Amino acid sequence: MRFFLDTADTEEIAQGLDWGMVDGVTTNPSLIAKQGLPYLGTVKKIAELVGEDRPVSGEVLATDYTTMMEEARRLAGLAPNVVVKVPLGPVGLKAVRTLRQEGTLCNVTLCFSPTQALLAAKAGAAYISPFVGRVDDISSDGMLLIEQIVEIYGNYDFETEILVASVRHPGHVAESAMMGADVATIPLKTLRQLYKHPLTDLGLERFLADWAKTGKSFDD
Ligand code: E4P
Repeated sequence: MRFFLDTADTEEIAQGLDWGMVDGVTTNPSLIAKQGLPYLGTVKKIAELVGEDRPVSGEVLATDYTTMMEEARRLAGLAPNVVVKVPLGPVGLKAVRTLRQEGTLCNVTLCFSPTQALLAAKAGAAYISPFVGRVDDISSDGMLLIEQIVEIYGNYDFETEILVASVRHPGHVAESAMMGADVATIPLKTLRQLYKHPLTDLGLERFLADWAKTGKSFDD
């Protein structure tokens, strides 16, 4: 399972890369807006920072087909590892089909239903992004959506990868892995939580305290 970092903050990305757990990055307009920096320049900087082997999703802002295609082509031209993020809907999926013919990979975002995921796969999306946290937020079951998409894609020869998005806690990551989702895009805070367990901290504290009581060093 691959982990993408869900952020437009280059310091967070540098931290994730240092831990060796980041296989790519996803951004969206809200995340880039938080940085207060130019839109395209931020996507380009992130793409260069993570290197060519790691995909970076940069999202179109337009909602009409012609402008969406122009923006998609500009995003794709920023760096070889830029994946164009396109919102679900007839216009977005039409753009995905054309972009695929041009050899550009797309991440279809804002997916909230299994049929939306089916349409994205039929259009030729490289990734589908179901937003599990936002589904949970409306008292529905985000992980059930992943289960449904895994089953649907498993019934056919779709190459579209399931990229679990809007991840809010380690449980989302664990369940996604159990279901065989291809990727989870995770905020740095949640990535940090994945390492943590109170018994790990307590166990280490005890090991070190027991050895300290001997008064000896590592070499003794
Ligand atoms: C995915 O690519 C989105 O950027 C992201 O996961 C949305 O998460 P949120 O619901 O926490 O904003």
